[in-house]
Amino acid sequence: MRRLRVIGIGPGGIDQITIAAVEAMNTVDVFLLLDKPNGPRDLRARMLERYVDRPYTVVAIPDPPRDRTPSDYTDTVARWHHRRAELIAEAIAAQPADAVLGILVWGDPAIYDSTLRIIGLVEQLGTLLEVDVIAGLMSINTLTAAHRQVLNSVGGAVHVTTGRNLRDSGIPPGVDAVVVMLDAHCAFLGFPDWTLFWGANLGTADEVIRSGPVAGIGDEVVRLRSELRERVGWVMDTYLLRAPDPAEPVAPSPVPGFARPEGER
Ligand SMILES: C[S@@+](CC[C@H](N)C(=O)[O-])C[C@H]1O[C@@H](n2cnc3c(N)ncnc32)[C@H](O)[C@@H]1O
Repeated sequence: MRRLRVIGIGPGGIDQITIAAVEAMNTVDVFLLLDKPNGPRDLRARMLERYVDRPYTVVAIPDPPRDRTPSDYTDTVARWHHRRAELIAEAIAAQPADAVLGILVWGDPAIYDSTLRIIGLVEQLGTLLEVDVIAGLMSINTLTAAHRQVLNSVGGAVHVTTGRNLRDSGIPPGVDAVVVMLDAHCAFLGFPDWTLFWGANLGTADEVIRSGPVAGIGDEVVRLRSELRERVGWVMDTYLLRAPDPAEPVAPSPVPGFARPEGER
C-alpha cells in the first residue's frame, strides 16, 4: 500500500505553516502538485525550498480543462473531479512503490478544498493508499486573528458559506454570524445593515483588512479588492458578517429552508 500524506500549509503566509506540517514534508519523497488555474502557485515551491532539507522530487499534475459557467454545476464538477482523480492515479502509478507521496493543500484540507474527496475517488479507481492528513491553518483563523474577533456570539452558531450561496440563498433564520469564502462578486453588498470584517491575501505581505458597517465600507472593499488583484496579480478574500443586533436573534422560520432575516430582503 502506498503512503500519501495530505498536508495543510496555511492560507498564504510562508510562516503560517505548522511544525507538524514541516515534519511531515520532511518525510515525503515525491510531492504531487495539483495545479489550479489563477492560484498563487509559487507558495508551495517556496515552502519546499525553505522547509525541506532532504532530497525530493516534484510531479506537477495540471488541472484538466473545466467549464466555469456550466448549467449543471454539480455534474460538471463531479466529472472534473473524476478526470483529476484519473490523472492523479496515473501519476501515482508512475512512482516507485515504496516512495512516500505528499500533497500540499492551501489552508486546511477540511474547508472548501476537494483534495480529500478526489483522493477518495483515486482509491475507488483501484489505487491502494494509506492516507494521513496534517491540519493546516484556515484562512478563517487568520481573518479572526487579524480583526481580534470571536466568530460566535455567546453560545451562538456560526454559518460558513460561499459568496454564491450567500447571494442566491441569503442567511438562514436565527444566524447572527456568517463566514463567507469564495466570493468573487462581493455578495456582502446585499446586507447593508450587517457589520463586515473583511480580509484579503491574509498572512501575506499584501494583507489588507477593513471592518465596519457594509453600508459604510462596502464600496471601499470592492475597490481595494480590484486594486489588490491588479497590483499583486491575485486576490483571495474571506469575511465575517455580523447581524445588526446580535442580542436580538431572528425568530426561526416555521418552514425549513433558507430565508433572509426580516429586513434583509
Ligand atoms: C478554495 S478555498 C480554500 C480554502 C482553504 N482550504 C482554507 O483553509 O482557507 C479558497 C478561498 O479561501 C479563502 N482564502 C484562502 N486563502 C486566503 C487568504 N490568504 N486570505 C483571505 N482569504 C483566503 C478565500 O475565500 C478563497 O476564495
